[in-house]
Amino acid sequence: MGKILDWLDSRFGIKAPHQRFLQRPLPKRLSYLYCLGGVAFTLFLCLLFSGLLLSIHYVPSQDEAFHSVVRITREVRLGWFVRSIHKWSANLLIVFIILHTIRVVVHRAYRPPRELNWLVGAMTLVIAFASGFTGYLLPWDQKAYWATEVGTSMAGTIPLVGKYLLYLVRGGPEVNGVTLIRFYSLHVLWLPLCMGILLWAHFHMVKRQGISGGL
Ligand code: HEM
Repeated sequence: MGKILDWLDSRFGIKAPHQRFLQRPLPKRLSYLYCLGGVAFTLFLCLLFSGLLLSIHYVPSQDEAFHSVVRITREVRLGWFVRSIHKWSANLLIVFIILHTIRVVVHRAYRPPRELNWLVGAMTLVIAFASGFTGYLLPWDQKAYWATEVGTSMAGTIPLVGKYLLYLVRGGPEVNGVTLIRFYSLHVLWLPLCMGILLWAHFHMVKRQGISGGL
């Protein structure tokens, strides 16, 4: 086993990064509260994987979206399971990001030099909310339609820019097939891409600055 590992190490370099990772300094009083961010990241990975599987059968069109979701739930093998994983991961992600944020506040880890990481973290929360909102429309049933109708009309009430914002979000004056495609593109491409970039920056700063010492 040792020889195989040595051979792999000489070609692939598995030992060195592993040792560096283990040698990184940690705060003296470490607790399970420091795992909340890691749990949030694991849920994000579950979302990505289950979302990739769902995208094989989902059809983002006005005529087909609803039926494709019914097909995923009733006919596709384990489709109901993958859908449930996606839904539960999305809800739990919000819960764990909020718990992680509370941990950071209680430990006052938002103070310099971590203020930029706090900002980047806050942006991930916005992206997570936006992902939930755009994903809610995709089943294209009555509940989804009216939730989006109400949610987007709130944007329309903003003084001066409201009307333009409403058009931008809906892709026109009302919620229709154009809105569905717009939300689909945001949900499966733009928002996950932004989240990926933000998380890379988040982890990069955690690695560079180390975990704060707590209270
Ligand atoms: C998907 C969202 C997020 C993920 C996956 C994530 C993940 C992580 C992980 C793994 C750590 C290191 C260990 C830990 O403290 O848990 C961390 C640290 C940190 N996070 Fe997040 N985070 C997210 C959102 C946020 C949010 C919303 C904020 C604040 C608004 C935030 C602020 C911070 C700060 C300031 C640190 C450094 C903490 C310290 O050094 O003690 N993060 N994050």
